[in-house]
Formats: sequence, C-alpha cells, structure tokens
Amino acid sequence: QRSGDLSGRRIVVSAGGTHEPIDPVRFVGNRSTGKMGFAIAEAARDRGAFVTLVAGPVALETPWGVHRVDVQTVREMLVALEQAAADSDAIIMAAAPADFRPASPADHKIKKAPGQERLVIELEQNPDIIASIPGGGIRVGFAAETRNLAEYARQKLPAKRLHFIVANDVSAPGSGFGTETNQVVIFHDDGRVEEFPLLSKYAVAHLILDRVLERLAARERP
Ligand code: PMT
Repeated sequence: QRSGDLSGRRIVVSAGGTHEPIDPVRFVGNRSTGKMGFAIAEAARDRGAFVTLVAGPVALETPWGVHRVDVQTVREMLVALEQAAADSDAIIMAAAPADFRPASPADHKIKKAPGQERLVIELEQNPDIIASIPGGGIRVGFAAETRNLAEYARQKLPAKRLHFIVANDVSAPGSGFGTETNQVVIFHDDGRVEEFPLLSKYAVAHLILDRVLERLAARERP
C-alpha cells in the first residue's frame, strides 16, 4: 500500500469516448482523448489510492500502478464500471460516453449503391451510465457544454445523483477535448459553486481529489 492522503482508498475513474459500431469498420464516436480521466487516475495513484481506470478507445499509455480496463461501447463501459464501483470509495466520470448508438449495426461493411446520395443511420438512446449505477461512494460527474454551462450542469447534479459536477466549456480555448489544460467550474449538491482559472489537467485532477477527500472525511466523521 502506497502512502498519501488517499492511501488504501479505491477510486474508479472513467476516461475517453466510446465507439458505437455502424458496421464492422465504422463507428459513431467523439473527440475525447482520455487525457482528463488519465490525469485523474495518475493523481489518485500519486496520492496512494488503488485506481481502476475504465478507458474507452484512446491512444494513451497505461499509467504505472493503475488497473486499466479497456472498453469500446457505452454498454461495455456500464458493465465494467458497475463491477468496479461495487466496492469503491469514489467514482469519477470523466469519460464522454455516446448518448446515442446506431440502432441496427450492419453485419457486413455497408457498400454504396450506384447513384446513392444519402445514407440514413437511425440512432437509439444509450443507457446513462452514472445514473444507472447505484452507490460507488462519492459520485463525481463532468458536464461538457458549449453553452448555458451553469444551467445544464445544475440539472445534471440531481438527475445523476452526484455529490459534485465538474463543468467545462468545451468550446473555450485551451479547455475540454484533447487539450493539456482545462478551465472548470465545480457545482456542489449543497449549492456551492467554485470557479477556477485555466490549469493543467493534472492540477484539475488534484482539485477534484481534494474535494473527494473532504467528502469522504465528512461522511466518516463520528
Ligand atoms: O478526454 P479529453 O480529450 O481530455 O477531454 C475531456 C472531456 C472534455 C471529455 C472531459 O473533461 C468531460 O467533460 N467529460 C464528460 C463528457 C460528457 O459526456 O459530458 P456530458 O455532459 O454529456 O455527460 C455528463 C456526465 O454524465 C459525465 O460525467 C458523463 O461521463 C456521464 N454520462 C454521459 C452519458 C452517458 N450515457 N452516461 C454517462 O454516465
């Protein structure tokens, strides 16, 4: 067991987007690179936690000392996180799971017919992962928005039964998908709001873990 203020704690982190198959060679996906979630996994490890990192399809090296589970789709991510969250002290959802998936993925590569101008792919809703998982300890979500950040983030807090939500404006420069930095606002379930400047994703990770630790301590106080 490593030393640190999260020593012995079990922290579950999700990272990256998902690939929802259209056919055997194509998918619906998004721009998440996994950098935010991997930074949280590294920071939690550096503070002594046992870390399970459930990663969508990303191009990042596994951080040493972290237990990584790779998944492709939202439904696979849900199964992996359900298992990992069964005995966790905190679950931190930095992944960007697809809200919709192709309703009937084709068994074979879709070919274009002569003269075909359009292809219509019907999408159906995926499960909401964090809303479907009960417990998990301290529950932390992210909100990726391009407008009305505060309003949408506040709506997601009770809907997903979160202790706090880390909102990032993914259209702001240096923030959100693929960047090394992030600018976040944290909305708590008791109404507190904390705004931060543009920071490295590793620094944002520590801010999140500081708050997870405070919540764990408050919960365990006699
Ligand atoms: O990976 P990077 O390139 O570093 O980019 C980081 C990031 C922008 C992906 C990250 O900072 C971030 O904002 N992650 C959340 C992306 C997202 O899916 O946001 P959302 O507002 O759509 O979802 C709200 C919350 O519900 C999130 O915690 C999400 O993980 C979760 N969710 C969403 C959909 C779904 N089907 N199940 C979920 O659990």
